[in-house]
Amino acid sequence: MSTSISPIRIQIDLNERSYPILIGTQLVDNPDTWANLPKAAIALVVTNETVEPLYAKRLCAALQSHFGQVMTLVLPDGESHKDWQTLNLIFDQLLEAGADRQTVLFALGGGVVGDMTGFAAACYMRGVPFVQVPTTLLSQVDSSVGGKTAINHPLGKNMIGAFYQPQRVVCDLDTLQTLPPRELSAGLAEVIKYGPIADMQFLEWLENNLDALLARDPKALGYAVQRSCEIKAYVVSQDERDVGMRAALNFGHTFGHAIEAGLGFGEWLHGEAVGCGMVMAAHLSQRLGLVDMDFVKRLTHLLDRAGLPVVGPQLGADNYLHHMRVDKKAQAGEIRFVLIDPPGHAVVRGAPDTLVADVIDHCCAG
Ligand code: NAD
Ligand code: GLY
Repeated sequence: MSTSISPIRIQIDLNERSYPILIGTQLVDNPDTWANLPKAAIALVVTNETVEPLYAKRLCAALQSHFGQVMTLVLPDGESHKDWQTLNLIFDQLLEAGADRQTVLFALGGGVVGDMTGFAAACYMRGVPFVQVPTTLLSQVDSSVGGKTAINHPLGKNMIGAFYQPQRVVCDLDTLQTLPPRELSAGLAEVIKYGPIADMQFLEWLENNLDALLARDPKALGYAVQRSCEIKAYVVSQDERDVGMRAALNFGHTFGHAIEAGLGFGEWLHGEAVGCGMVMAAHLSQRLGLVDMDFVKRLTHLLDRAGLPVVGPQLGADNYLHHMRVDKKAQAGEIRFVLIDPPGHAVVRGAPDTLVADVIDHCCAG
């Protein structure tokens, strides 16, 4: 018999844009999960070809009593479809159905579906309500929370988008049971991230419970999602528009972005690149005297146990530096890194190129 977890509720405090995150099991099927949403004639569930056969029927059935008509739109799967052409399919369906400004969109899937559906909701008739129903670990602990929505441009990832908060985030832990192991590990990178930047007790909890997480124990997954969302909720409520402390959530992302761009997007999963990027950022923190080597080894060991790559691809330091200069945090050409100072706290600062190049050479396969 599967373990059932009663819903935990975390509130994101953003004045009139505040909303709850619900975390538990058996949430998708339960009509109570969807009670108190804005009433509307039409609900559109946006999903993809992988997730639709797993969960869409159950979600649509649970929504029937709340909406006049529940429609589904199945998008192609993959980061390469996070583009204008696919986004337009959402607008096509809404316009063909005569959807009005009360229409509620549901994003059922991982971060790709969530980011695209959120952006569609921000744009359609200048804004309609939407609900995030994240089905990957990465999307439950990061992308569905906080209102960053976007599509990719051929010249840059997530470059076209909007801050637009959902009405609700529903993290049904049962959906994680069907996730491919590589995707689970990629999500664990974003979970592990919250330890060094905000909560070393959580890092210790992860060290003690990693085997249960890899075995997909619902109780362990529930706590990992809960603590991650609590930290993200606090950070977003302090800095919704990403002009200050929200940058801490990008620990590992500057090096990670260079790995993704340097190898070609899609070669490594985003979470894999972030995991390896955290190893590099930890080494850079150590070289700058902000943390000791024991911390670097501890973090590297945990990421390795989580099934993540901890040695970077050898792209050449110049190539890394080139890609890091187009990071959104860069200022007047200076690369800015999220570093750890001390463990449990993040800072954003620059570092000499020669030191960064040394760290890259040290952390990459020869
Ligand atoms: P994804 O959406 O591509 O999902 C990964 C794979 O898992 C896909 O093939 C998907 O179809 C499949 N899948 C989803 N749920 C499943 C399930 N329950 N069972 C089986 N298969 C399932 O990738 P992701 O890692 O969820 O998200 C990555 C995206 O999120 C990127 O586009 C990234 O830019 C974005 N992102 C956004 C934010 C933000 O703040 N908005 C933060 C981090 C990442
Ligand atoms: N994933 C980073 C952020 O939400 O700011």
